[in-house]
Amino acid sequence: MKMCILMGSPRENGNTESLLVPFRDELDKLGVTYDMIWLKGKNLNPCVACRTCQKNWSSFGCVWKDDVYDIYERIMDARMIVLASPIYSWYCTGPMKIVLDRLVYGMNKIYGEKMGPQLWKGKKMALITTCGYPPEKGADLWEAGMKRYCKHSGLEYTKMLVERHAGYHIEFMDAEKEAHARQFARELSKIL
Ligand SMILES: Cc1cc2nc3c(=O)[nH]c(=O)nc-3n(C[C@H](O)[C@H](O)[C@H](O)COP(=O)(O)O)c2cc1C
Repeated sequence: MKMCILMGSPRENGNTESLLVPFRDELDKLGVTYDMIWLKGKNLNPCVACRTCQKNWSSFGCVWKDDVYDIYERIMDARMIVLASPIYSWYCTGPMKIVLDRLVYGMNKIYGEKMGPQLWKGKKMALITTCGYPPEKGADLWEAGMKRYCKHSGLEYTKMLVERHAGYHIEFMDAEKEAHARQFARELSKIL
């Protein structure tokens, strides 16, 4: 699988999903294989910092046997991870944050007495987001956090697609946003 898309919006047919529709359609046209995982409704437990995962250098090794195990396997099968989430309180949504916390420990075996491997080293990451503020004041902190997360994890940060939701009285999706989503898919397909 070339791409694993993690979708953190709670809203089916919401703004973030309406970007994913043309984005995925363009991937299909380009013949880019992808796996799509909606986090909504999944069983996702927050990291409890037990560090059991640090004793297992060959696999995820988390004590929680929940849906993050399946997400781990599907990410390992992909070359690029695409995180799609609306901005909530200047970061991603809660379910996405749970997954990020679980993976930063489970994937990076660097929190024990000895430095171990980073299981996902070399994979690429891209972001798709929507926010109420102008992008530079709505999505800037999540992008900065994810750039640092990637550097820390041996991942290669690539780029972000961000579109503004200017108000509940205004239709979110338009031809320009659709064109941006298609262009983003084309750009990512070139750097996979
Ligand atoms: C609980 C909540 C918190 C939000 N926090 C922010 C925020 O901090 N900054 C921002 O720019 N927009 C914020 N927004 C606006 C959403 O990011 C925006 O409406 C987004 O397009 C929703 O995407 P969705 O339809 O996929 O859920 C928030 C919306 C909600 C519901």
